[in-house]
Amino acid sequence: MTQLTPFWNWLVIIVSIGSILACWWLLHWTKGISDRDDDTSVDDTGHVWDHDIRELNHPLPRWWLHLFNITIVFALVYLVLFPGLGNIPGVLGWTQVQRYEANVAEAEAATAEVLAAYEGMSPGALAADAGAMETGRRLFGNYCAMCHGSDGGGGPGFPNLADDYWQWGEGYDNVLTAITHGRQGVMPPLGATMEYPQLFALAHYVRSLSGLDHEAAQAAKGQQDYTMLCVACHGVEGHGMAALGAPSLADDEWLYGRTVDDIVETVQAGRNGNMPAHESLISEPQRRILAAYVMSLSQNGD
Ligand code: HEC
Ligand code: HEC
Repeated sequence: MTQLTPFWNWLVIIVSIGSILACWWLLHWTKGISDRDDDTSVDDTGHVWDHDIRELNHPLPRWWLHLFNITIVFALVYLVLFPGLGNIPGVLGWTQVQRYEANVAEAEAATAEVLAAYEGMSPGALAADAGAMETGRRLFGNYCAMCHGSDGGGGPGFPNLADDYWQWGEGYDNVLTAITHGRQGVMPPLGATMEYPQLFALAHYVRSLSGLDHEAAQAAKGQQDYTMLCVACHGVEGHGMAALGAPSLADDEWLYGRTVDDIVETVQAGRNGNMPAHESLISEPQRRILAAYVMSLSQNGD
């Protein structure tokens, strides 16, 4: 556990003990000024305003005084039992860290109990279980929504999980792998040596693959580059290759945009989508629930 440096250690000890002693002294000093039991004979302090307004000096009521004494005793007992005086641990050995760890352990035990019910359930059974799906929805909100959107709809650079197109392959197992180990899309920057007209023509060819508006003459010019540079990953017809995460260029799903400029930029600069691994963040049973939940997004959706 981290310790205070000697300076702060002594400062805390001296200020704590000092203020308790000061409090005690103040009580006894004020009591000494007017230590009487009968409240009728009242001293005054000798201060007079406007010729006849005198400042009186009533003694503190006993019960009031004793309240202060009790707080002093409480403070001393507290400092003996609990850590309060610099680095001195207190005889109970209580620490915030211990308390925090106990709370975490308690919460984990409670979660484990809930999750145990889902042990060994198939993806289909999980998807049909309202409790599991509610857990999945909450996990998705905590861990995934900031990138994929709270409805899984995605955004530029972040794939839509609520549709039925899967860049890395469809199915529960692929989703579970994405969650557990992450996914790193590597579209290499291939346009570094190409002139703009060449990139322009290539982009038109890429647009032709999915039937988007394009200039046929440009597309015909671009085809050769596509065949040479792109087919290995995206396929002859642009259907992509799930094993590499190379997306289909022949559909209407565009992670990075479908305009000629977007496509030119993709080819020139490359793209490196990074889905972080969640193995160390989310427990295995929770990852399975989450994968089933993600599958349900596309099945319930459009
Ligand atoms: C930091 C942002 C980020 C977070 C957080 C994140 N993802 Fe992703 N995810 C991505 C990106 C970016 C990709 C695309 C990777 C690529 O370009 O290949 C991706 C890809 C995926 C894929 C593959 C999609 C496909 O079409 O094959 C799945 C499934 C997925 N994420 C699910 C999840 C789930 C479930 C969570 C919550 C545990 C999550 N992601 C959290 C950024 C994120
Ligand atoms: C080594 C394999 C590989 C090669 C070669 C390759 N790509 Fe890619 N491409 C990818 C991957 C992987 C992605 C997805 C990147 C990501 O998820 O961040 C991608 C993404 C893209 C995208 C973005 C798709 C979208 O949905 O926005 C376009 C466009 C594209 N590539 C075009 C091309 C063209 C044109 C060529 C040839 C000049 C090419 N790629 C060559 C692997 C490749």
